[in-house]
Amino acid sequence: MQDRSTQKENSLKAQAPAPRQTVHITFEDRKLEVPAGISVAAAVLGHAHAGHTCTNAVDASKRAPYCLMGVCFECLMEINGVANVQSCLVPVEDGMVVRRQDHARVVDE
Ligand code: FES
Repeated sequence: MQDRSTQKENSLKAQAPAPRQTVHITFEDRKLEVPAGISVAAAVLGHAHAGHTCTNAVDASKRAPYCLMGVCFECLMEINGVANVQSCLVPVEDGMVVRRQDHARVVDE
């Protein structure tokens, strides 16, 4: 049987948030420490200095993720050398290399 102080201590431990895990990604040659489990788009949006994630192929306007659920395609980025990736649908992984997509989409023939 636990005394009251031990019960209270255990109760407080149970309420404490778990330590937050992070991973490291590289965005435009800059190392970012970001929370594990979030999308690449969210990770980039979370850093104020990150700026845009892609440019519009028609007018070269700067774009950023909008819907964050795979509908708008405003989040296309190059992830680990693969272009045209919807970054809002990809969870961050340690060591991931992410670049802006500043060109029109290229379709393989
Ligand atoms: S933010 Fe809309 S598809 Fe990714």
